[in-house]
Amino acid sequence: MGVQVILCMVLVGLFMVMVRAKVPAMMVFGDSSVDAGNNNYIETVARSNFQPYGRDFVGGKATGRFSNGRIATDFLSEAFGIKPYVPPYLDPNHNISHFATGVTFASAATGYDNATSDVLSVIPLWKQLEYYKGFQKKLRVYVGESRANETFAKALHIISLGTNDFLENYFAIPGRASEYTPREYQNFLAGIAEKFIYKLYGLGARKISLGGLPPMGCLPLERTTNFIGGNECVPRYNTIALEFNDKLSKLTTRLNKDLPHIRLVFSNPYDIFLQIIHKPSQYGFQVASMACCATGMFEMGYSCSRASSFSCIDASRYVFWDSFHPTEKTNGIIAKYLVKNSLAQFLH
Ligand SMILES: *[C@@H]1O[C@H](CO)[C@@H](O)[C@H](O)[C@H]1NC(C)=O
Ligand SMILES: *[C@@H]1O[C@H](CO)[C@@H](O)[C@H](O)[C@H]1NC(C)=O
Ligand SMILES: *[C@@H]1O[C@H](CO)[C@@H](O)[C@H](O)[C@H]1NC(C)=O
Repeated sequence: MGVQVILCMVLVGLFMVMVRAKVPAMMVFGDSSVDAGNNNYIETVARSNFQPYGRDFVGGKATGRFSNGRIATDFLSEAFGIKPYVPPYLDPNHNISHFATGVTFASAATGYDNATSDVLSVIPLWKQLEYYKGFQKKLRVYVGESRANETFAKALHIISLGTNDFLENYFAIPGRASEYTPREYQNFLAGIAEKFIYKLYGLGARKISLGGLPPMGCLPLERTTNFIGGNECVPRYNTIALEFNDKLSKLTTRLNKDLPHIRLVFSNPYDIFLQIIHKPSQYGFQVASMACCATGMFEMGYSCSRASSFSCIDASRYVFWDSFHPTEKTNGIIAKYLVKNSLAQFLH
């Protein structure tokens, strides 16, 4: 090895250490957008720990991530110089020494609303917070109370959910729609988000990213069933995503004023996601209207089916992996955008 190479490695190492000091860990809460496999350890059908899921993941492993490879939080963790994968809290193969630098409590198919997590019997948001409290106890024992407290204050807490409240619950099954208008339901959910942030703050969190909704009317599942609209994006669902995002954005502004020393950012994937869907070729994609997995099938489910032998050859040409979830490539583009546009302040 040349001197330059070694010097370069030392500099890269130093840079990683400097970055890591700013954000030493990532604590993740939410749904399938950020679940790395917690649902493998509970009784639910909302799972993806089978092929072809994970076929482009390291070792071709179907970890329970709803993608062909990594999900956005994996890319974010890497961008912050921490580690390339954020492990699921319920995985018995991981212990506190791994979780100390990042862990996800997320559960696919969950929502802000308890009634959403009930649909497929997944982990509700309040339970994810209970897990986080348990994790805090373990970390205090493992590294000592003051270092643990410092970790909670410096760690980036990521909240990413809400799509299922609308698509899996409000618009899919009777119940909430008879109690609330869409706008009232949005306020109900935003109220839960606010309480959740207060609770995280009470547990010592100071850096929090609140995720916005994607253009959910453009998910292949919604397009496939949009017969009248010629299989285009469903405008009504996109409008609701925009309205809800606006509420979350205002909530962010307000809580930054109300909670001393909090740094809360609104991480909004909507615009970049819609741009990718409208102009896929600009991002190196060929297909945005259908999913890679089960291409050509009338795919109605939450995940692509075990039995389906139809999946595209090269997922990197597709925006969507299954009818509800982006490919690894899309996840990477969105994560990069979020780092640049909302999370960059935590790098410095
Ligand atoms: C965690 O697991 C690793 C093996 O993956 C082991 O070396 C380490 O001692 C364990 N740490 C704790 C705190 O249990
Ligand atoms: C959800 O359920 C938990 C546990 O039963 C409860 O504490 C919480 O208040 C519920 N949330 C809402 C918004 O009803
Ligand atoms: C750690 O945080 C807890 C809860 O906020 C607090 O009660 C405790 O005094 C803190 N301990 C240290 C050593 O900072």
